[in-house]
Amino acid sequence: MESSSAPQVIKCRAAVAWGVGQPLVLEEVEVSPPHPMEIRIKVVCTSLCRSDLTAWTSQAQASLYPRIFGHEASGIVESVGQGVTEFNIGDHVLTLFTGECSTCKHCTSPKSNMCQVLGLERRGVMHSDQTTRFSIKGKPVYHYCAVSSFSEYAVVHSGCAVMVNSNAPLEKICILSCGVAAGLGAVWKIADISEGSSVVIFGLGTVGLSVAQAAKLRGAAKIIGVDTNPGKFETAKAFGVTESLNPNDSSEPIQQVIKRLTDGGADYAFECIGDTDMVSTALQSCCEGWGLTVTLGVPKTKPEITAHYGLLLSGRTLKGSLYGGWKPKSEIPLLIDMYLKKEIRIDEFITHNIPFEEINKAFELMSEGKCLRCVIHMPK
Ligand SMILES: NC(=O)c1ccc[n+]([C@@H]2O[C@H](COP(=O)([O-])OP(=O)(O)OC[C@H]3O[C@@H](n4cnc5c(N)ncnc54)[C@H](O)[C@@H]3O)[C@@H](O)[C@H]2O)c1
Ligand SMILES: [Zn+2]
Ligand SMILES: [Zn+2]
Repeated sequence: MESSSAPQVIKCRAAVAWGVGQPLVLEEVEVSPPHPMEIRIKVVCTSLCRSDLTAWTSQAQASLYPRIFGHEASGIVESVGQGVTEFNIGDHVLTLFTGECSTCKHCTSPKSNMCQVLGLERRGVMHSDQTTRFSIKGKPVYHYCAVSSFSEYAVVHSGCAVMVNSNAPLEKICILSCGVAAGLGAVWKIADISEGSSVVIFGLGTVGLSVAQAAKLRGAAKIIGVDTNPGKFETAKAFGVTESLNPNDSSEPIQQVIKRLTDGGADYAFECIGDTDMVSTALQSCCEGWGLTVTLGVPKTKPEITAHYGLLLSGRTLKGSLYGGWKPKSEIPLLIDMYLKKEIRIDEFITHNIPFEEINKAFELMSEGKCLRCVIHMPK
């Protein structure tokens, strides 16, 4: 059979950032057809993750504008590029901000999800040819994480999308495309915590509360949540946090309080803020001998971490984790099944549903600490 006619350029609306921290502007953009091994997706829903906000305010990336952010998204395959056999038009997918080529050293190792071919893209272009698939009047518009879901249509590599059960509600599961999955995996795969353990979580946003949910499901005995925004404490309780601490309410350093509550330090600490100074605090909050700190946050400013070497000499471990260590193609569908079977909760993370035209509201709410996840709904 002859294949149907080749995909054409689509003109649609995208929320374009024209400069660091500048409100997004809905613009008409041209979206190129998918290149070989790529797919073009009609975005259905996309949520705002703190990492979008951090990149949007980062002076380090000031040269990558105009730019389309967004990397937590669900959608429907609109067209497929040459060589794609895995997806068909109409398939439901989640985008992957770090992909899986299935053949590199990392993809074939059970130890890693850091694909060497389709890993985190930081230059605002597509992995395959270092160019963009978006333009405005012929001038390129940069990508974010090779996803850029703040657009009605987006082109991604077929290794940067995962097919999902078509019964799963796309307006909910978009949040499994990054933050929620990152928190669950940090606990279950990276730390692999044991029942009865004590856990401390720095930052009670969507990522931190996903850590709490995962720790509770594993049977952690004590889950201490630390946040400077007391508005987070009520929801934190619902996700399994047993004690909430506000460092601003305490005259002694927060690590001292945690040590007291945990007989010398927690078994596990998770940094879910994006503040590198907190990594040292997290290590200090862990116990000697086996205390493990997992850092998930993406630094807002200073990327370097400092910690006294004695913290490590006395047996603590520091580990990082991107996307919860999940191998996204094979493992994200398992999380969706868990959600459909009501084994994990995700609806409660969605504090706001916002039409695409009001996307800047999501940025405001997150900047002001007034939301967990804002789901942005694309026009039908
Ligand atoms: N590793 C990954 O794969 C991955 C995935 C998604 C997000 N992230 C990163 O994880 C972090 C959390 O993401 P999120 O979407 O949950 O963000 P969020 O902004 O919703 O949550 C962060 C929380 O930290 C709290 N906080 C800020 N400063 C604090 C301080 N000094 N002390 C205590 N609490 C403080 C805030 O009040 C907020 O509740 C971000 O850095 C984000 O970029 C990493
Ligand atoms: Zn790979
Ligand atoms: Zn994210």
